[in-house]
Amino acid sequence: MRVDIEALVPGAVEADVLAFPVVDGLAGTAGELDGLLKGRIARLLEDGELTAELGHAALVHLNGDLKAQRVAGAGVGKREELDADALRTAAAAVARCAHTFAGSIAWILDESLPLPLPEQARAIVDGTILGLYDPARWKSNGGRPHKTERLLLVVPRPEEIAPVAERAARVAEWTNRARDLVNSPGNEATPERLAARAAEIAAGAQNVTAEALGPDEIEKHGMGALAAVAQGSDNPARLIVLRYEPPKPARPDLQLGLVGKAITFDTGGISLKPALHMEEMKGDMAGGAAVIEAVGAIAELGLPVRVLAVVAACENMPGGHAYRPGDILTAMNGKTIEVTNTDAEGRLVLADALWYARQQGATHLVDLATLTGAMELALGDFYAGVFANDDEWRDLLCTAGETSGDHLWPWPLHRRYRRYVDSDYADMKNSSDLRQGSPALAAEFLHEFVGEGPWAHLDIAGPAFLERSRGDYLTQPGGTGYGVRLLVELAARLTRADSGASGPSAAR
Ligand code: BES
Ligand code: MN
Ligand code: ZN
Repeated sequence: MRVDIEALVPGAVEADVLAFPVVDGLAGTAGELDGLLKGRIARLLEDGELTAELGHAALVHLNGDLKAQRVAGAGVGKREELDADALRTAAAAVARCAHTFAGSIAWILDESLPLPLPEQARAIVDGTILGLYDPARWKSNGGRPHKTERLLLVVPRPEEIAPVAERAARVAEWTNRARDLVNSPGNEATPERLAARAAEIAAGAQNVTAEALGPDEIEKHGMGALAAVAQGSDNPARLIVLRYEPPKPARPDLQLGLVGKAITFDTGGISLKPALHMEEMKGDMAGGAAVIEAVGAIAELGLPVRVLAVVAACENMPGGHAYRPGDILTAMNGKTIEVTNTDAEGRLVLADALWYARQQGATHLVDLATLTGAMELALGDFYAGVFANDDEWRDLLCTAGETSGDHLWPWPLHRRYRRYVDSDYADMKNSSDLRQGSPALAAEFLHEFVGEGPWAHLDIAGPAFLERSRGDYLTQPGGTGYGVRLLVELAARLTRADSGASGPSAAR
């Protein structure tokens, strides 16, 4: 999507659709347009054709009254509740009304709204690009590609808005690429294909290198936990490693470690999952997809922060070679794990990936994983849960979550949850038979493998993959690309001197 930013009077905007926010009646931009259109907006509001209801958008033909062909009034909800997500939702609603015929959509940003113009611009770009995403790529007719190629933002001072809007557009496109990966079925998005995607990103970017360890190297490194999960599948595992080394990092001592769970299909293994909705487990690589595409975005933007990404990619299958309940594994850090449920595989592959990332020099770790069904039960499809061993690091992530639209809510990490995974035979077991606190005990399990320094675990089981529209700007089922926007925002914040991320010794 091409994004242009211009200072124009509404009458001079040339576009197929000229959109404006509807908040309370004729305030702001709506009033200005009403003046130009001789009271038509007021009448449409009176008739209820235009409303402030969030997500409602209506198109009106202009017949030459303005240079634009049509106007679209988009409800943004109550003024006091207005936030960036409301504008994302409104932008998506307009885009979805217009995409079958409109080559260009223009938005008049409204200075009277209680949100700074750069944030409005970012939200409109996000909502338009993410709202137009179509998951129907596998239909034999190719799905329905949208006609909208240009988004024009009409603002008083374009030079203040252009960098923000252009960055948002790039990040949203990378987010949609992550959605493509997540929506790809298990027979396409194999561990090898994910590794090929990482290599493709490295080939197309500056200062990025990709490598992928195969089964032999995984074995040689002593990654017994990852190897065990992978052994039931004919699709060989890959430990995908992406490194981004910008020429002039803002903080040469800091290396951001991004770790992703990429179970390309999670059947549960011998502890087989029920059949109903099992197809959604193609999305169990959403953490890995977000990490891979976020590295692409960070490199394309040239952010001056060193990044090491480690994605543990394999398939969790039952079969004659599969690992079993009762098996005892030795992870790369030497700790032993009794497998009590082969469906608790995510924490196993992450154990080795986290330890590897730390060994490779990551100073600040974040992992993203569709780890527990209970997280989805608890927080639904909106928030991901965050657990961290460092308050400052967690706060920075939560702030990045709020600004990026990938929202995070803090969860407790406490050593007292460790007893849930005490094993009679090994250092720990991978699941508990008590139906209690499963997201927190999974986090405590991971804690055993993060070494020294700040680490945050993001359980993204809820927002990473939708069964249905979320009722906002994510209207399509399937992958949401959760994490790409968040990680780019995090990386951007780490380049600022006042980012608040202290050195590795800060963690408790
Ligand atoms: N990938 C699942 C978690 C999941 C479930 C994500 C539903 C998204 C939607 C994970 O590997 C899993 O199976 N977790 C189990 C662990 C249990 C067996 C201890 C769970 O949470 O039920
Ligand atoms: Mn599982
Ligand atoms: Zn899983």
